[in-house]
Order: sequence, then C-alpha cells, then structure tokens
Amino acid sequence: MTSPTRPSRGKETVAALRERLDRLEREAAERQRQLERYAADLREVFKQERKRAQELRRSYKATVLALANAVEARDAYTGKHAERVASYGLRIAHAAGVPVDPQVEFGFLLHDVGKVAVPDAILFKPGPLTDQERALMVLHPVIGTEILRHVDFLGEAKEVVRHHHERWDGKGYPDRLTGDDIPVQARVFAVADTLDALTTDRPYRPATGWSEAREVIRSEAGSQFDPAIVAAYEAVPDEAFARIRDTII
Ligand SMILES: [Fe+2]
Repeated sequence: MTSPTRPSRGKETVAALRERLDRLEREAAERQRQLERYAADLREVFKQERKRAQELRRSYKATVLALANAVEARDAYTGKHAERVASYGLRIAHAAGVPVDPQVEFGFLLHDVGKVAVPDAILFKPGPLTDQERALMVLHPVIGTEILRHVDFLGEAKEVVRHHHERWDGKGYPDRLTGDDIPVQARVFAVADTLDALTTDRPYRPATGWSEAREVIRSEAGSQFDPAIVAAYEAVPDEAFARIRDTII
C-alpha cells in the first residue's frame, strides 16, 4: 500500500531540485561573468604595463642616445659613428647567433663615453701621441665604465664599454683579455667599430670601400678579432651595411 503523501513529496523534491539547479546555473553564469571581467581587467593591466615598459625603453634609449651624441658632438668627423656602429654590431651579432638585448645595444652606443675625460688636444691630435698622451687615451674604457657604474639598467652594456678595445690575441686594453675571456658582445663590437672607422672619411685619409674594409678585417681574424665573429661578418653582404649607413645620416 502506497502512502498518499509520497507523490507530493516526490513533486516537491523534483521542483526543489529544479530550483537548486537553476540557482546553481545562475551562480555559475555569474561566476563566469565575473571571471570574464577579471580577465578583461588583467588584459587591460598587461596592456598598460606593456605600454609603460615600451615608453620606459624609449626613454632609456633616448637618454643613451643623448649621452652618445654629447660625446660625438665634439668630433665633426665621426658624427653618428655610435649609431652606425651599434647597427652594424646588431647585424653582425644576428649573423653570429650572439644574443643581443637592449642593454648591449646601449653598450654599443656608449662605448666611447669615457672620451669625455680625454682633452681635445689629445683626442684630435693630428700626429702620433706621446707615451703620456696614449696612457691617458687608453684609459677611456675604464673611465667610461666608471661613469656608468651606478646606472643599473645598463647591465651588460658596461662590459662592452670596458672591453671594446680588447684584442683576440691579448694585446688590447685595458685588461689584456684573450680569446673567449673577452665578452662576446665586445668581440662583435670590435669588428663593427673597425668596419665603420675604415668606411668613414677621416681628416688624415678618405674612407675605404666596403671590399677593402672586408680585406682588412679578414686579415685581422685570429689576431685582433675573433675568427668566428669575422666569419659571421663575412656572411653579411656589403649591401646590408650600406643600407644601414644610408639610413643613419
Ligand atoms: Fe674606444
């Protein structure tokens, strides 16, 4: 015998379940909307952060360029040398598979910042330097590193500034480092620096052509330059460097 109350209890249970289910669905939908709002907020925060980081990087680069240009403003002949050499350096580094972060590019741009401490009479002396003058001149990588010592955002840039005149054979300065002990970005820079020096007019000689410059650099592989970096440079056609030079005026 069935109880008369059972069907209505059953109906109530189904209705209650439906109501519970509806409530759960409403809550789930609300939670989803909330999550979507959080996701949208997060996307906006990331977007703003990325924008701020880009602005900060642009400010850093503008500051570094201003400093590099202040150094170069003293020398009418080398104008834009730092920007050209930085671009050549990036191109060679890319060919060599050498990682280059913005800090290293800053190092390329600021390599000669220490020359602010070298008097004009030495920096622009047309004849050969005396031992004393040369002793002061070769200090510029050390002075440059000192100038930038407390600028944290420059990081590895300071390595390029300090070691941009080291030679693969250990006869460079200031630390007479040899081979792989020289930071790789500084080894890249050395090739780029010579390329620009050779292909730019100087008071005492006209610019050499790209192919002549290539011969000079090739002849210094293993003595002044890292042979692997010279090989990477050799893989970059003259036209690529010419394009860079034409865009930096
Ligand atoms: Fe230098």
